[in-house]
Amino acid sequence: MTTEPDAETQAPARSASRTLQDVSEPDDAAPTGPVEGAEGESWQVGMNLKGSLREAMQAPPTVYEIVGGQRFFDELVDRFYDAVEDDPLLRPMYPRDMGPSRRRLAGFLAQYWGGPPQYSEERGHPRLRMRHMPFPIGLAERDAWMAHMTASLDAATIADGAGRPLPGEIRAAMFDHFDNAATHLINRPG
Ligand code: HEM
Repeated sequence: MTTEPDAETQAPARSASRTLQDVSEPDDAAPTGPVEGAEGESWQVGMNLKGSLREAMQAPPTVYEIVGGQRFFDELVDRFYDAVEDDPLLRPMYPRDMGPSRRRLAGFLAQYWGGPPQYSEERGHPRLRMRHMPFPIGLAERDAWMAHMTASLDAATIADGAGRPLPGEIRAAMFDHFDNAATHLINRPG
């Protein structure tokens, strides 16, 4: 394949959250239309808004928003790279200072799951296959990477300070993304 799939930058970020929202939809008995004040005018924030602001207020939350924003991805990546620091197979591939590596991966993941385009602004298109070519990635390296990321995902909570567990479907969607991407990045098969 000569071109990188657009799927690298565009996650179905809202699809998992849409399911979450559907689950939490109010039941049929709940009022659905605008609620009117004493003067007969709509009083809820958003009801009188037009155009993109109204759209923004009605859009379902992204996965990025549900998990607590950038902090979630920073913590996920920190746990992951702390484990890589001690991995004799993977550590030699990474630069001595892994600070910038942490920032790049956290920025990429945040953007992938619906966050701001900070990664693209700093690095352009991810071109992950091309960027990983200098590193020999076979099945053993892929499995080691996945083992650390899975452990980090298992330890993850929503980053709002309350320690609430990650919704199961979001955990599963993230696992699938890592699992597929890691396989896609194998460049020394056999
Ligand atoms: C399969 C096993 C993998 C190995 C051995 C591996 C290894 C590496 C190494 C050595 C780097 C360079 C470190 C640096 O940023 O300075 C890197 C960068 C990166 N990796 Fe991986 N990686 C793997 C899988 C993945 C997966 C599955 C993803 C995404 C889901 C990913 C995303 C990234 C990103 C975003 C960068 C920074 C790219 C840039 O802007 O330069 N990697 N990886």
